[in-house]
Amino acid sequence: MPINQDSLPKSLLYVGSSTLEHQIICGKALVKKLKENGLMANDRVLDLGCGSGRVAAPLTDYLTGSYEGFDIHKEAIEWCSSSITKEYKNFKFIHSDVYNAVYNKKGVLSASTYVLPYKDNEFDYCFAFSLFTHLLPEDTRNYLCEIRRVIKVGGLCLASFFVSCKNEDFDKNCESKYHYSYDYLINLFTLSGFFVEKFIKGCWDQPSENKEYYQDCFVIRAR
Ligand SMILES: C[S@@+](CC[C@H](N)C(=O)[O-])C[C@H]1O[C@@H](n2cnc3c(N)ncnc32)[C@H](O)[C@@H]1O
Repeated sequence: MPINQDSLPKSLLYVGSSTLEHQIICGKALVKKLKENGLMANDRVLDLGCGSGRVAAPLTDYLTGSYEGFDIHKEAIEWCSSSITKEYKNFKFIHSDVYNAVYNKKGVLSASTYVLPYKDNEFDYCFAFSLFTHLLPEDTRNYLCEIRRVIKVGGLCLASFFVSCKNEDFDKNCESKYHYSYDYLINLFTLSGFFVEKFIKGCWDQPSENKEYYQDCFVIRAR
């Protein structure tokens, strides 16, 4: 039985899904994308910036391994713990008090130096949907190095970005909709200890009906 998300407050539908119905459709599409890109049912999985469980909720139907989600939004984590962990003990959620100009203005920790609360080589698969689009470059660099620390050699990470060649789209003061060039990201992945398996173009900069695959995604593998 899928998790019932009816009790999700409207204030937690902040992920580009203005209605619960849309959040559910997108969540299922993202789980499909993870499965198409190497996620195995018995994996140990990390969801960075898990929000209000858009992906975790439908993932409960597939994952027999274990799931860890973390986010800086306290209410979102409280909802996930009380609604998802309550029914699926292999799904756990952690709140981290990291500062973000949009999501956690009172946060005390810096994303550029934050150490993920997980052990080295713990995960088979990591993913981050619509997280790096809200982080500054130094935060992104640190998070990629941290993912590399907690993922096993050969493990996969699927992460979404806005990949743009228009440098003027960069806004250094805006922790929302942050864009990077393709070459910048390839270099960053290499420096963090990954190689690129696949680039999946999203539809954010093209007219498209298929808004479920909005952002661009990279599938990267730990060296
Ligand atoms: C657009 S939402 C995406 C949520 C979720 N990944 C999804 O696809 O439904 C962005 C999320 O990133 C979280 N976030 C922002 N900065 C973060 C950070 N430094 N560490 C972890 N999560 C962060 C926000 O709290 C928010 O839940």
